[in-house]
Amino acid sequence: MNILLTGGAGFIGSHTLIELYKAGHTAFVIDNLYNSDREALRRAAQIIGIDEVPFMKADIRDRKALNEVFDHHHFDACIHFAGLKAVGESVAKPLEYYENNMNGTFVLLDVMRKHGCKNIIFSSSATVYGDPAVIPITEDCPKGHCTNPYGQTKSMLEQVMIDLQKADGEWNVVLLRYFNPIGAHPSGRIGENPNGIPNNLMPYITQVAIGRRERLNVFGNDYPTPDGTGVRDYIHVVDLATAHVAALQAIIRHQGLAIYNIGTGHGYSVLDVVNTFMRVNKVDIPYVIMPRRAGDIATCYCDPQKAARELGWTAQYGLEEMCRDSWNWQRQNPNGYQS
Ligand code: NAD
Ligand code: UD1
Repeated sequence: MNILLTGGAGFIGSHTLIELYKAGHTAFVIDNLYNSDREALRRAAQIIGIDEVPFMKADIRDRKALNEVFDHHHFDACIHFAGLKAVGESVAKPLEYYENNMNGTFVLLDVMRKHGCKNIIFSSSATVYGDPAVIPITEDCPKGHCTNPYGQTKSMLEQVMIDLQKADGEWNVVLLRYFNPIGAHPSGRIGENPNGIPNNLMPYITQVAIGRRERLNVFGNDYPTPDGTGVRDYIHVVDLATAHVAALQAIIRHQGLAIYNIGTGHGYSVLDVVNTFMRVNKVDIPYVIMPRRAGDIATCYCDPQKAARELGWTAQYGLEEMCRDSWNWQRQNPNGYQS
Protein backbone atom coordinates (compact mmCIF):
# COMPACT_ATOMS: atom_id res chain seq x y z
CA MET A 1 0.00 0.00 0.00
CA ASN A 2 1.06 3.63 -0.44
CA ILE A 3 0.55 5.51 2.81
CA LEU A 4 0.45 9.23 3.61
CA LEU A 5 2.16 9.95 6.92
CA THR A 6 1.27 13.33 8.41
CA GLY A 7 3.86 14.23 11.03
CA GLY A 8 6.03 11.45 9.65
CA ALA A 9 9.31 13.21 10.55
CA GLY A 10 8.49 13.03 14.27
CA PHE A 11 9.42 10.45 16.89
CA ILE A 12 6.72 7.85 16.23
CA GLY A 13 6.25 8.72 12.54
CA SER A 14 9.91 8.19 11.60
CA HIS A 15 9.94 4.75 13.27
CA THR A 16 6.66 3.81 11.59
CA LEU A 17 8.04 4.86 8.22
CA ILE A 18 10.82 2.28 8.55
CA GLU A 19 8.47 -0.52 9.59
CA LEU A 20 6.10 0.26 6.71
CA TYR A 21 8.90 -0.10 4.15
CA LYS A 22 10.13 -3.24 5.91
CA ALA A 23 6.67 -4.74 5.44
CA GLY A 24 6.71 -3.91 1.70
CA HIS A 25 4.68 -0.68 1.75
CA THR A 26 5.70 2.77 0.51
CA ALA A 27 5.03 6.13 2.15
CA PHE A 28 4.95 9.88 1.60
CA VAL A 29 5.63 12.22 4.50
CA ILE A 30 4.05 15.62 5.03
CA ASP A 31 5.38 17.54 8.03
CA ASN A 32 5.92 21.22 8.85
CA LEU A 33 9.04 20.27 10.88
CA TYR A 34 7.75 22.32 13.82
CA ASN A 35 8.85 19.62 16.24
CA SER A 36 11.16 17.52 14.10
CA ASP A 37 14.26 17.56 11.98
CA ARG A 38 14.73 16.68 8.34
CA GLU A 39 17.77 14.69 9.41
CA ALA A 40 15.39 12.06 10.87
CA LEU A 41 14.08 11.40 7.36
CA ARG A 42 17.61 11.23 5.91
CA ARG A 43 18.57 8.65 8.50
CA ALA A 44 15.32 6.72 8.05
CA ALA A 45 16.06 6.54 4.30
CA GLN A 46 19.52 5.10 5.07
CA ILE A 47 18.04 2.47 7.37
CA ILE A 48 15.38 1.56 4.80
CA GLY A 49 17.93 1.56 1.94
CA ILE A 50 16.31 4.16 -0.34
CA ASP A 51 17.83 7.39 -1.69
CA GLU A 52 15.31 9.62 0.01
CA VAL A 53 11.92 9.52 1.68
CA PRO A 54 9.17 11.09 -0.46
CA PHE A 55 8.53 14.27 1.53
CA MET A 56 6.85 17.67 1.39
CA LYS A 57 7.47 20.32 4.03
CA ALA A 58 3.99 21.70 4.63
CA ASP A 59 1.43 22.36 7.30
CA ILE A 60 -1.63 20.12 7.18
CA ARG A 61 -3.77 23.21 7.74
CA ASP A 62 -2.56 24.39 4.32
CA ARG A 63 -5.39 23.08 2.14
CA LYS A 64 -3.64 24.06 -1.09
CA ALA A 65 -0.53 22.08 -0.21
CA LEU A 66 -2.55 19.05 0.84
CA ASN A 67 -4.60 19.17 -2.36
CA GLU A 68 -1.40 19.30 -4.35
CA VAL A 69 -0.05 16.20 -2.62
CA PHE A 70 -3.28 14.30 -3.24
CA ASP A 71 -3.47 15.50 -6.87
CA HIS A 72 -0.06 13.99 -7.59
CA HIS A 73 -0.17 10.78 -5.53
CA HIS A 74 -2.55 7.94 -4.90
CA PHE A 75 -2.81 7.00 -1.24
CA ASP A 76 -4.46 3.84 0.04
CA ALA A 77 -4.56 5.22 3.58
CA CYS A 78 -3.30 7.99 5.83
CA ILE A 79 -1.60 7.54 9.19
CA HIS A 80 -2.21 10.80 10.98
CA PHE A 81 0.52 11.66 13.49
CA ALA A 82 0.72 15.43 12.98
CA GLY A 83 -0.19 17.35 16.09
CA LEU A 84 1.18 19.25 19.04
CA LYS A 85 1.69 16.98 22.04
CA ALA A 86 3.21 18.75 25.06
CA VAL A 87 0.69 18.54 27.89
CA GLY A 88 2.03 21.47 29.95
CA GLU A 89 2.38 23.73 26.92
CA SER A 90 -1.20 22.92 25.93
CA VAL A 91 -2.40 24.30 29.26
CA ALA A 92 -0.46 27.52 28.65
CA LYS A 93 -1.41 27.82 24.95
CA PRO A 94 -4.85 26.24 24.59
CA LEU A 95 -5.84 28.17 21.49
CA GLU A 96 -2.69 27.14 19.61
CA TYR A 97 -3.29 23.50 20.53
CA TYR A 98 -6.96 23.46 19.64
CA GLU A 99 -6.26 25.34 16.42
CA ASN A 100 -3.42 23.13 15.24
CA ASN A 101 -4.77 19.75 16.25
CA MET A 102 -8.46 20.27 15.49
CA ASN A 103 -8.22 22.45 12.40
CA GLY A 104 -5.33 20.44 10.96
CA THR A 105 -7.39 17.27 11.22
CA PHE A 106 -10.52 18.93 9.76
CA VAL A 107 -8.60 20.08 6.70
CA LEU A 108 -6.92 16.69 6.31
CA LEU A 109 -10.20 14.74 6.55
CA ASP A 110 -11.92 17.04 4.08
CA VAL A 111 -9.12 16.82 1.51
CA MET A 112 -8.94 13.04 1.93
CA ARG A 113 -12.68 12.77 1.38
CA LYS A 114 -12.57 14.94 -1.74
CA HIS A 115 -9.86 12.71 -3.19
CA GLY A 116 -11.68 9.49 -2.34
CA CYS A 117 -9.18 8.36 0.29
CA LYS A 118 -11.35 7.32 3.24
CA ASN A 119 -8.96 5.21 5.27
CA ILE A 120 -7.30 6.72 8.32
CA ILE A 121 -5.28 5.52 11.30
CA PHE A 122 -5.24 8.13 14.04
CA SER A 123 -2.67 8.62 16.82
CA SER A 124 -4.79 8.72 19.94
CA SER A 125 -3.66 8.33 23.50
CA ALA A 126 -4.40 6.56 26.76
CA THR A 127 -5.07 10.06 28.05
CA VAL A 128 -8.64 9.77 26.66
CA TYR A 129 -9.45 7.36 29.54
CA GLY A 130 -8.73 10.11 32.10
CA ASP A 131 -8.39 8.52 35.53
CA PRO A 132 -9.42 5.02 34.41
CA ALA A 133 -12.32 3.35 36.17
CA VAL A 134 -10.83 -0.15 35.71
CA ILE A 135 -7.26 -1.48 35.43
CA PRO A 136 -6.12 -3.01 33.13
CA ILE A 137 -7.90 -0.69 30.72
CA THR A 138 -9.88 -2.33 27.91
CA GLU A 139 -11.25 -0.46 24.91
CA ASP A 140 -14.75 -0.71 26.42
CA CYS A 141 -13.77 1.40 29.43
CA PRO A 142 -15.63 4.68 29.31
CA LYS A 143 -13.61 7.69 28.26
CA GLY A 144 -12.78 9.97 31.17
CA HIS A 145 -12.23 13.59 31.97
CA CYS A 146 -9.12 15.00 30.28
CA THR A 147 -7.34 17.50 32.47
CA ASN A 148 -5.61 19.42 29.67
CA PRO A 149 -6.29 20.82 26.17
CA TYR A 150 -3.94 18.30 24.52
CA GLY A 151 -5.98 15.41 25.89
CA GLN A 152 -9.21 17.15 24.94
CA THR A 153 -8.10 17.41 21.31
CA LYS A 154 -7.44 13.64 21.20
CA SER A 155 -10.80 12.85 22.76
CA MET A 156 -12.72 15.28 20.55
CA LEU A 157 -10.94 14.19 17.36
CA GLU A 158 -11.79 10.57 18.13
CA GLN A 159 -15.45 11.64 18.29
CA VAL A 160 -15.18 13.60 15.04
CA MET A 161 -13.89 10.52 13.23
CA ILE A 162 -16.44 8.21 14.88
CA ASP A 163 -19.24 10.52 13.67
CA LEU A 164 -17.73 10.79 10.20
CA GLN A 165 -17.55 7.00 9.87
CA LYS A 166 -21.11 6.67 11.13
CA ALA A 167 -22.35 9.13 8.52
CA ASP A 168 -20.42 7.58 5.64
CA GLY A 169 -19.76 3.84 5.83
CA GLU A 170 -17.07 4.09 3.14
CA TRP A 171 -14.71 5.38 5.82
CA ASN A 172 -12.44 3.05 7.72
CA VAL A 173 -11.25 4.70 10.92
CA VAL A 174 -8.70 3.07 13.21
CA LEU A 175 -8.12 4.79 16.53
CA LEU A 176 -4.89 3.66 18.18
CA ARG A 177 -4.67 4.62 21.82
CA TYR A 178 -0.98 4.64 22.60
CA PHE A 179 0.23 4.09 26.12
CA ASN A 180 3.75 5.38 26.95
CA PRO A 181 6.11 5.11 23.97
CA ILE A 182 9.83 5.11 24.80
CA GLY A 183 12.96 3.51 23.32
CA ALA A 184 14.45 4.16 19.91
CA HIS A 185 15.45 2.33 16.76
CA PRO A 186 18.01 -0.34 17.79
CA SER A 187 20.55 1.24 15.39
CA GLY A 188 20.60 4.34 17.60
CA ARG A 189 20.27 6.48 14.44
CA ILE A 190 16.77 7.82 15.15
CA GLY A 191 14.99 8.49 18.41
CA GLU A 192 13.09 11.00 20.52
CA ASN A 193 14.39 14.55 20.28
CA PRO A 194 12.47 16.82 22.66
CA ASN A 195 12.92 20.58 22.63
CA GLY A 196 13.82 22.19 25.94
CA ILE A 197 13.28 20.49 29.26
CA PRO A 198 11.67 17.08 28.68
CA ASN A 199 8.21 16.56 30.21
CA ASN A 200 8.26 12.81 29.88
CA LEU A 201 10.14 10.38 32.06
CA MET A 202 12.47 8.55 29.68
CA PRO A 203 13.95 11.56 27.84
CA TYR A 204 14.54 13.17 31.22
CA ILE A 205 16.38 10.06 32.44
CA THR A 206 18.57 9.89 29.32
CA GLN A 207 19.45 13.58 29.68
CA VAL A 208 20.50 12.97 33.29
CA ALA A 209 22.57 10.00 32.10
CA ILE A 210 24.34 12.10 29.44
CA GLY A 211 25.00 14.89 31.95
CA ARG A 212 22.64 17.53 30.54
CA ARG A 213 20.55 17.49 33.74
CA GLU A 214 21.77 17.04 37.28
CA ARG A 215 19.13 14.69 38.64
CA LEU A 216 15.69 13.26 37.99
CA ASN A 217 12.71 14.63 39.89
CA VAL A 218 10.44 11.73 40.83
CA PHE A 219 6.94 13.16 41.04
CA GLY A 220 5.42 11.58 44.14
CA ASN A 221 6.14 8.40 46.12
CA ASP A 222 2.82 8.25 47.98
CA TYR A 223 0.61 6.77 45.28
CA PRO A 224 -1.27 3.52 46.03
CA THR A 225 1.25 1.51 43.98
CA PRO A 226 3.80 -1.15 45.11
CA ASP A 227 6.62 1.39 45.64
CA GLY A 228 4.50 4.56 45.82
CA THR A 229 5.61 5.97 42.44
CA GLY A 230 3.37 6.22 39.36
CA VAL A 231 2.84 3.08 37.27
CA ARG A 232 2.64 3.20 33.45
CA ASP A 233 2.52 0.90 30.45
CA TYR A 234 5.77 1.71 28.63
CA ILE A 235 5.99 0.45 25.06
CA HIS A 236 9.01 0.31 22.74
CA VAL A 237 8.54 2.71 19.84
CA VAL A 238 9.44 -0.02 17.33
CA ASP A 239 6.59 -2.15 18.70
CA LEU A 240 4.32 0.88 18.42
CA ALA A 241 5.48 1.31 14.82
CA THR A 242 4.66 -2.29 13.90
CA ALA A 243 1.22 -1.82 15.47
CA HIS A 244 0.50 0.72 12.70
CA VAL A 245 1.52 -1.79 10.04
CA ALA A 246 -0.77 -4.38 11.68
CA ALA A 247 -3.59 -1.81 11.89
CA LEU A 248 -3.64 -1.60 8.09
CA GLN A 249 -5.38 -4.98 8.22
CA ALA A 250 -8.44 -3.38 9.79
CA ILE A 251 -8.57 -1.14 6.73
CA ILE A 252 -8.03 -4.00 4.28
CA ARG A 253 -10.89 -5.86 5.98
CA HIS A 254 -13.14 -2.77 5.75
CA GLN A 255 -13.77 -2.87 9.45
CA GLY A 256 -15.45 0.55 9.57
CA LEU A 257 -14.57 1.80 13.04
CA ALA A 258 -11.89 0.01 15.05
CA ILE A 259 -10.35 1.08 18.37
CA TYR A 260 -7.24 -0.52 19.88
CA ASN A 261 -5.14 -0.05 22.97
CA ILE A 262 -1.46 -0.18 22.02
CA GLY A 263 0.62 -1.10 25.03
CA THR A 264 2.35 -4.14 26.53
CA GLY A 265 -0.15 -4.81 29.31
CA HIS A 266 2.63 -4.50 31.94
CA GLY A 267 2.77 -1.67 34.44
CA TYR A 268 6.15 -0.38 35.65
CA SER A 269 6.75 2.24 38.30
CA VAL A 270 9.04 5.25 37.94
CA LEU A 271 11.58 3.52 40.17
CA ASP A 272 11.31 0.28 38.15
CA VAL A 273 12.28 2.31 35.07
CA VAL A 274 15.12 4.13 36.84
CA ASN A 275 16.54 0.94 38.36
CA THR A 276 16.27 -1.03 35.12
CA PHE A 277 17.95 1.82 33.21
CA MET A 278 20.84 1.91 35.69
CA ARG A 279 21.29 -1.88 35.69
CA VAL A 280 21.08 -2.43 31.94
CA ASN A 281 23.20 0.56 30.95
CA LYS A 282 25.57 0.63 33.92
CA VAL A 283 25.07 4.35 34.48
CA ASP A 284 24.00 6.20 37.60
CA ILE A 285 20.75 8.19 37.67
CA PRO A 286 20.64 10.43 40.74
CA TYR A 287 17.06 11.25 41.70
CA VAL A 288 15.12 13.15 44.30
CA ILE A 289 11.52 12.60 45.43
CA MET A 290 9.33 15.63 44.72
CA PRO A 291 5.63 16.35 45.27
CA ARG A 292 3.10 14.81 42.89
CA ARG A 293 2.74 16.48 39.47
CA ALA A 294 -0.66 18.08 38.93
CA GLY A 295 -2.92 16.03 36.70
CA ASP A 296 -1.01 12.73 37.15
CA ILE A 297 -2.78 9.50 37.98
CA ALA A 298 -1.44 6.58 40.05
CA THR A 299 -1.71 3.66 37.66
CA CYS A 300 -2.32 3.28 33.96
CA TYR A 301 -1.79 0.11 31.96
CA CYS A 302 -3.82 -1.62 29.34
CA ASP A 303 -5.28 -4.90 28.32
CA PRO A 304 -3.77 -5.28 24.83
CA GLN A 305 -5.64 -8.49 23.93
CA LYS A 306 -8.00 -6.94 21.41
CA ALA A 307 -5.08 -5.91 19.17
CA ALA A 308 -3.58 -9.39 19.59
CA ARG A 309 -6.84 -11.11 18.69
CA GLU A 310 -7.90 -8.94 15.78
CA LEU A 311 -4.60 -7.65 14.35
CA GLY A 312 -2.24 -10.44 15.42
CA TRP A 313 -0.05 -7.78 17.01
CA THR A 314 1.69 -8.03 20.37
CA ALA A 315 4.62 -6.06 21.73
CA GLN A 316 7.93 -7.92 21.41
CA TYR A 317 10.28 -5.75 23.45
CA GLY A 318 10.53 -5.54 27.24
CA LEU A 319 11.60 -2.78 29.60
CA GLU A 320 15.28 -3.77 29.36
CA GLU A 321 15.35 -3.27 25.59
CA MET A 322 13.44 0.00 25.95
CA CYS A 323 16.08 1.29 28.41
CA ARG A 324 18.97 -0.04 26.29
CA ASP A 325 17.72 1.54 23.06
CA SER A 326 16.78 4.89 24.66
CA TRP A 327 20.31 5.16 26.01
CA ASN A 328 21.92 3.92 22.79
CA TRP A 329 20.19 6.75 20.90
CA GLN A 330 21.00 9.43 23.48
CA ARG A 331 24.63 8.31 23.85
CA GLN A 332 25.24 8.42 20.07
CA ASN A 333 23.37 11.73 19.73
CA PRO A 334 23.95 13.78 22.89
CA ASN A 335 22.24 16.78 21.31
CA GLY A 336 19.69 14.89 19.26
CA TYR A 337 19.80 15.51 15.50
CA GLN A 338 21.92 18.63 16.06
CA SER A 339 24.88 16.45 17.10
P1 NAD B 1 6.32 14.47 17.42
O1 NAD B 1 6.13 15.87 17.86
O2 NAD B 1 7.69 13.90 17.43
O3 NAD B 1 5.70 14.27 15.97
C1 NAD B 1 4.60 15.02 15.50
C2 NAD B 1 4.99 15.62 14.17
O4 NAD B 1 3.91 16.40 13.66
C3 NAD B 1 6.19 16.57 14.28
O5 NAD B 1 7.17 16.17 13.35
C4 NAD B 1 5.62 17.95 13.97
O6 NAD B 1 6.56 18.77 13.31
C5 NAD B 1 4.43 17.58 13.10
N1 NAD B 1 3.34 18.56 13.07
C6 NAD B 1 2.69 19.11 14.13
N2 NAD B 1 1.72 19.93 13.70
C7 NAD B 1 1.75 19.89 12.34
C8 NAD B 1 0.98 20.52 11.32
N3 NAD B 1 0.00 21.37 11.60
N4 NAD B 1 1.29 20.24 10.03
C9 NAD B 1 2.29 19.40 9.72
N5 NAD B 1 3.03 18.77 10.64
C10 NAD B 1 2.76 19.01 11.94
O7 NAD B 1 5.35 13.54 18.31
P2 NAD B 1 5.24 11.97 18.41
O8 NAD B 1 5.67 11.59 19.77
O9 NAD B 1 5.87 11.32 17.24
O10 NAD B 1 3.67 11.79 18.35
C11 NAD B 1 2.98 11.52 17.16
C12 NAD B 1 1.49 11.52 17.44
O11 NAD B 1 1.19 10.56 18.45
C13 NAD B 1 0.97 12.87 17.97
O12 NAD B 1 -0.30 13.10 17.42
C14 NAD B 1 0.87 12.64 19.46
O13 NAD B 1 -0.08 13.46 20.05
C15 NAD B 1 0.47 11.19 19.52
N6 NAD B 1 0.84 10.54 20.79
C16 NAD B 1 2.12 10.59 21.22
C17 NAD B 1 2.47 10.02 22.43
C18 NAD B 1 3.89 10.11 22.95
O14 NAD B 1 4.11 9.85 24.13
N7 NAD B 1 4.89 10.41 22.14
C19 NAD B 1 1.49 9.35 23.21
C20 NAD B 1 0.19 9.29 22.71
C21 NAD B 1 -0.13 9.90 21.49
C1 UD1 C 1 2.06 12.00 29.75
C2 UD1 C 1 0.85 12.84 29.49
C3 UD1 C 1 -0.10 12.12 28.56
C4 UD1 C 1 0.61 11.65 27.31
C5 UD1 C 1 1.80 10.78 27.74
C6 UD1 C 1 2.58 10.26 26.59
C7 UD1 C 1 0.62 14.20 31.55
C8 UD1 C 1 -0.24 14.49 32.72
N1 UD1 C 1 0.20 13.20 30.74
O1 UD1 C 1 1.64 10.84 30.41
O2 UD1 C 1 -1.17 12.96 28.20
O3 UD1 C 1 -0.26 10.92 26.47
O4 UD1 C 1 2.66 11.58 28.56
O5 UD1 C 1 3.24 11.31 25.94
O6 UD1 C 1 1.63 14.83 31.32
N2 UD1 C 1 7.69 11.35 35.97
C9 UD1 C 1 8.61 11.70 36.95
N3 UD1 C 1 9.56 12.63 36.64
C10 UD1 C 1 9.63 13.25 35.42
C11 UD1 C 1 8.70 12.88 34.42
C12 UD1 C 1 7.74 11.94 34.74
O7 UD1 C 1 8.56 11.19 38.04
O8 UD1 C 1 10.52 14.10 35.22
C13 UD1 C 1 6.68 10.32 36.27
C14 UD1 C 1 5.24 10.79 36.15
O9 UD1 C 1 4.79 11.34 37.36
C15 UD1 C 1 4.54 9.49 35.75
C16 UD1 C 1 5.60 8.73 34.95
O10 UD1 C 1 6.86 9.30 35.32
O11 UD1 C 1 4.24 8.73 36.90
C17 UD1 C 1 5.43 8.86 33.44
O12 UD1 C 1 5.35 10.24 33.12
P1 UD1 C 1 5.32 10.76 31.61
O13 UD1 C 1 6.43 10.15 30.85
O14 UD1 C 1 5.23 12.24 31.63
O15 UD1 C 1 3.98 10.12 31.01
P2 UD1 C 1 2.46 10.23 31.57
O16 UD1 C 1 2.36 11.12 32.72
O17 UD1 C 1 1.97 8.84 31.70
